[in-house]
Amino acid sequence: VKRIKVNLENSAYDVLVGARMLREAGANLLKATRTPSSKCIVVTSPVVRKLWGKTLEDSFRKAGLNYSVIEVDDGERSKTFRNMEKVLGAFVQHRADRKSLVIALGGGVICDIAGFAASIFMRGIPVVQIPTTLLAQADAAIGGKTGVNLPGGKNLAGTFHQPKLVIVDTDVLSTLPDREYRAGIFEIIKCGAISDAKLFAYMTANAGDILKRDSSAVLHLVSEALKIKAKIVAEDERESDNRRLLNFGHTIGHALEAATSYRRYLHGEAVGLGMLAAVNIGTAIGITPISVAQKMFSTVNSYGPLPPVNVPDETVLSLLGSDKKTVNGSTHFVLLKDIGRPVITSDVPAAAVKYGMEVLRSAFRQSRSHQVSHG
Ligand SMILES: NC(=O)c1ccc[n+]([C@@H]2O[C@H](COP(=O)([O-])OP(=O)(O)OC[C@H]3O[C@@H](n4cnc5c(N)ncnc54)[C@H](O)[C@@H]3O)[C@@H](O)[C@H]2O)c1
Ligand SMILES: [Zn+2]
Repeated sequence: VKRIKVNLENSAYDVLVGARMLREAGANLLKATRTPSSKCIVVTSPVVRKLWGKTLEDSFRKAGLNYSVIEVDDGERSKTFRNMEKVLGAFVQHRADRKSLVIALGGGVICDIAGFAASIFMRGIPVVQIPTTLLAQADAAIGGKTGVNLPGGKNLAGTFHQPKLVIVDTDVLSTLPDREYRAGIFEIIKCGAISDAKLFAYMTANAGDILKRDSSAVLHLVSEALKIKAKIVAEDERESDNRRLLNFGHTIGHALEAATSYRRYLHGEAVGLGMLAAVNIGTAIGITPISVAQKMFSTVNSYGPLPPVNVPDETVLSLLGSDKKTVNGSTHFVLLKDIGRPVITSDVPAAAVKYGMEVLRSAFRQSRSHQVSHG
């Protein structure tokens, strides 16, 4: 078991990472929270419960924990206030009180809804995160951001609520659909790109093992990504400065997601495309060397395919809040001087954004004409 510490001033906690962690979850939870008499409320989805619920519940029974299970749907479109309200209602039904402990078992959507519900139920009760997608393990479950989407946009309502403990079992990734797995990979490429050239090089060199989900490769990836996120979060708990680096690939990525009503891309896929756009924006304004852009292309492409892009410039620019000639000064772009050397700038002309978008669209046209020419 690897133990990664998230060193926050008022709320340090551990992330336990390993294969088969779910079987030990009950015992580790007792050790970390020392509240054996309080009630545990597991929040999970029907899909995840069917696959992994029994393993978790067995470990809870073995540890003598008193628990109940609440189900709520996952997937981006389920990340709503209404579903969170259902979860709060179920807390009451299951007689949760101020001493109860919420356990989130699921992907980022479950982690975010359960964390949000825990943060406001009776003005806040503790939560333990047990993420089950690659994206949630490497990213969503740590850092304390919780929330739901509003009709007007993603994550518009939420809180900061740090977990008491995060348990990461890399074995649970074995059941993840291929597309979800690859979507998580792009967020980890991001971690390497903004702060760890070694991790980035590892991902470039070992795409075969990583795509096969070789267990030691997966363990390495997840723990390296977690170390990076833990470090950045500890330096900047509330996203005033450094934490913004985690948004590399997200400025264009979020615009692509919004432009397609969150239906075409998984979040990680949009980030993959957003990173490709970002390196081209960087080359257009002389921040990113062409060789760095090429590295990004070949690494991202080795975890492809990504869904095509045909979103027009005007849509992207208006989502970025810009007028036709300039991008609004409050839109921040994270760009790369080199792999592992990011810069944050709000000084990106609309022409550079258009160039970045054109590169994405032309990749789509090429792959389409390729398909056509092969009948
Ligand atoms: N709080 C944060 O800091 C933070 C960071 C990054 C992302 N997020 C949020 O995370 C969300 C995306 O998370 P996600 O990609 O995990 O989506 P998700 O939770 O919807 O899970 C994706 C799919 O995988 C399935 N699934 C989950 N675990 C599985 C397993 N082990 N085996 C098989 N199937 C499994 C789910 O049923 C779902 O259909 C977004 O809403 C995003 O905003 C939050
Ligand atoms: Zn992300």
